[in-house]
This record gives sequence, C-alpha cells and structure tokens, in this order.
Amino acid sequence: MPSRITIVGCGYVGLTTGVCFAHLGHEVTCTDVDQQRVDMLNRGEVPILEAGLENLMREGVNGGRLKFVVGSVAAAADSEFVYLCVPTPQGADGSADLSYIEAAANEIGPHLQPETIVVNKSTVPVGSTRVVEQALGRSDVYVVSNPEFLREGSAVHDFLNPDRIVIGAEDQAAAVRVAALYIGIATPLIVTDPPSAELIKYASNAFLAAKVSYVNAIAAVCEAVGADMNDVVLGMGYDKRIGHEFLRPGPGWGGSCFPKDSRALIRIAEDAGYDFDLLEGVVEVNDDQFVRVAKKAVDLAGGSVDGKTLGVWGLTFKARTDDLRDSPSLEVIKRLQAQGARIQAFDPSVSPPLDARRARDLEGIEIVTDPYAACAGAEVLLVLTEWDEFKWLDFDKVADALVRPRIVDGRNLLDREALRRRGFEYRGIGRT
Ligand code: NAD
Ligand code: UGA
Repeated sequence: MPSRITIVGCGYVGLTTGVCFAHLGHEVTCTDVDQQRVDMLNRGEVPILEAGLENLMREGVNGGRLKFVVGSVAAAADSEFVYLCVPTPQGADGSADLSYIEAAANEIGPHLQPETIVVNKSTVPVGSTRVVEQALGRSDVYVVSNPEFLREGSAVHDFLNPDRIVIGAEDQAAAVRVAALYIGIATPLIVTDPPSAELIKYASNAFLAAKVSYVNAIAAVCEAVGADMNDVVLGMGYDKRIGHEFLRPGPGWGGSCFPKDSRALIRIAEDAGYDFDLLEGVVEVNDDQFVRVAKKAVDLAGGSVDGKTLGVWGLTFKARTDDLRDSPSLEVIKRLQAQGARIQAFDPSVSPPLDARRARDLEGIEIVTDPYAACAGAEVLLVLTEWDEFKWLDFDKVADALVRPRIVDGRNLLDREALRRRGFEYRGIGRT
C-alpha cells in the first residue's frame, strides 16, 4: 500500500531516499530550507552527481508521486511518515552536532497528525531517538531509527539493493510500518531497539574506516620491506573472512561521513566510560597517511617543493562523486601547499564557475579543465582520486608536459610497468 512520506533535507541521503521511495510507489514530498536547491529540483536538475538519480527523479515527478517544496511543515502535517535526512556535522568536541535534527523536529512537532512516524535516517548518536522525541514535544507520535548505508556514487543502487535494512523502534507495530515502506526490496531486515540501530551505523562506518587504515598501514610495511601491496591485498582478499572490499590502499579515507562518524564514535564511547584507543589509532594512521603521500611527492621532487609547481589529478574524496567534503586529496594538497608548492589540478567533476562552497574548499588551487594542462611545467604529477578515465590518457603527452616524468600514484591506479617503460619515476602506495 502506498504511503505518504515527507523527506526533510534534499541532500545525498534525503534526495536518494525520496526518489527511491517514489520509485517503490509511495507519495513523496521532499523538503529543504535551501530555496535554490528546491528550484533546481523543480526544474528537473539534480544538484549532485549520482548515477541513475536523474532518471528515477523524472519518473517520480512525471508519475505525480514526487514533489519538492521549501519548508517541511505543510508536507509533514499531511504525511504518515517523516524522514529526517538533515546534516549531523562534527561538533567542536568531536561529537555529532544535533542542532539540525532538533530544529527540524521542533518545527514539525506541533503540526503532525497522531500516529505519525518520524524516522531518523541521519546518522545520529546513541540516544538521539529520545532527543527527537523531546524536540517534537509529542507523546502521540512514534520516533524510529532507520540508518542509511548508501555510498555516494552508487547511492540509488545501494538504496534499492541494500545489504540489510536496520530498524530501531521501541514500538513493534511502528517498526513493522517502517519495514513495509521497503516493499519489493528483498534483503535481511534487522529490527532492534533504537540504541542498537544507532550503534550499528557508527560501528559499520568505523569498521570500514579501520579496514582502510589497516591496509594503508600494511602498505607502509610493504614499502619498508620491499613487498608489493597489490599482491598482498590480493592474497588477503581471497580469504572469505577478509574479502576483497575496502582493501584498496590510498591517500587516506575521507568524505562527509567516515571522519566525523569515527570521531563521534570515539566520543560516544568516551562519554560512556570506554577509551576507544583502537579507533583513535585508526584516525591517527589516516592522518599520517596524508603526510606520507605528500612526502612521496616531496621526495620525488628532490627533497623540497618550495616554489615548485605540482600537478594533481583528482580532487573528490573518491571517484564517481562530485563531493569534495573532507577529501583526502585536499588534505594531501594542503600539506604540500604548506611546504610552498603551487598546485594545478584537474578533476572530471570540477570545473569553473565554482559555487561558494567549492571555491572555499579549493582556495589556492589552480583548477584546470584538461588533465594535460595540470601537468604543464609541473615537477611531479600526483594521482589522488581513482577516476577510471585517468588510466586511458596519453602518458607520452603527460611526460612531455611535466618538467621530468615523475608520478605519485596515490591510488595504485596506473600501470606501473608501462609507465616505467616510458621513462617515468613511479611511486605507488605500498609498492615502489
Ligand atoms: P547533505 O548536506 O548532502 O544534505 C542535507 C540537506 O538538508 C541540505 O540540502 C540542507 O539544506 C538540508 N537541511 C538542513 N536543515 C534542514 C531543515 N531544517 N529542513 C529541511 N532541510 C534542511 O547531507 P547528507 O550527506 O545527505 O547527510 C545527511 C545525513 O545522512 C547525515 O547525518 C549523514 O551522516 C547521513 N548519511 C550520509 C551519507 C552520505 O553518503 N552522504 C550516507 C549515509 C548517511
Ligand atoms: C561510506 C560507507 O561506505 C557507506 O556505507 C555509508 O553509508 C556512508 O559512508 C555514510 O555514512 O556516509 P562513502 O562516504 O560514500 O560511504 O564512501 P566510501 O566508498 O565508503 O569511501 C570512503 C573513503 O574511503 C573514500 O575516501 C575512499 O576513497 C576510501 N577508501 C574506500 C579507500 O581508500 N580504500 C578502499 O578500499 C575503500
């Protein structure tokens, strides 16, 4: 049975959730406070790079099941479900900042119909279900936790083909109503209490971050003992208990969630009286990785980058997204700029004119719209995001553009042997 759903927040999670629920047959109103974003959506334009989203959005709008409005009160007052998909950024003390969640709940609380289910899809600390209950100020509505596990770049696919659906609810009937929204999606369903659902989300993200930090630490050992990281991860990954996923070494993990969520989990544990040293180590290894990758470029440039130009391919926190938030590429660049380097960078998803946020994130970096232009007169080229198209470029042209053919392959993306045959000095991650 189709349900009436309001989605609060049209970002990566809210927009994907709204579009996919409309695809499953529900009547969805997506709301945001950002007038410009809502205007764009109403023109049929998708404000984020996300495979498949535009087509499904058009399908929902044309089918009359999906609309976009500014302000959530009217939509929420007319809905059976309200999904909170607003930001939960890192607060000053490392904990998640719940002010957006509280503001949204405060706003809609007085207008909800009895029996409405308010669902936390934002990533929120243990105990946030209570926070939302209080902010709503209602005892006749339900608050349920239903964390989201989608990855940027494959958000639609992940939403419609999840590894599991997690629902945390004190009221079993409310849990069943939320589960019924996912009609047609065949996947394990975990119904638990709200704190467990909230912790599943943080524990999963932190585990994945730990896996990547572990791999980057093993890469450092490979470099020290002369082993080849690509072969090491292949050998590890065939063990089914380890698996091949999340074993790619790189310039460190980043993005809008791993950094804030791992710090938030450290804080959740600390507040509960547990020192999560293991996770602190995971974060520390990641911070070191930015420095290690920057140092590879300094070494290749002869020991100093002061006053020198460096070329960069890849600015986003991973490929197939246009998201620059907490990008490892920008972290490495920052460390090189601090040593006097001038950066010229190319990314397939970044081109002028830049909006205010991007201009701020990319301050001091010369953005070029051609990968070879990023190499022109550069001492070293760094590959920092794993965009597939970088593999197929003309490396003779790259060699001609660089001062000398030297590459830091921060994602082990390129064909090392082919580059060496062309005369490149090559440094990968965990392979010299
Ligand atoms: P985002 O920044 O892309 O989008 C958030 C949207 O909420 C923005 O458009 C903003 O204008 C809007 N907003 C803020 N306050 C509002 C209000 N009161 N009413 C209506 N709209 C409001 O954020 P995101 O990446 O979608 O993340 C949202 C939450 O989901 C976070 O808690 C995040 O940790 C979690 N999450 C994100 C991902 C991801 O891949 N990005 C995956 C899983 C979970
Ligand atoms: C991650 C999780 O994978 C999602 O399940 C979760 O829903 C989401 O965070 C969230 O809570 O926001 P996402 O941030 O889109 O998704 O990106 P990932 O694909 O997980 O990559 C995170 C970072 O780790 C990137 O910087 C990526 O380059 C890096 N990474 C990932 C590696 O360096 N090596 C790997 O093998 C995998």
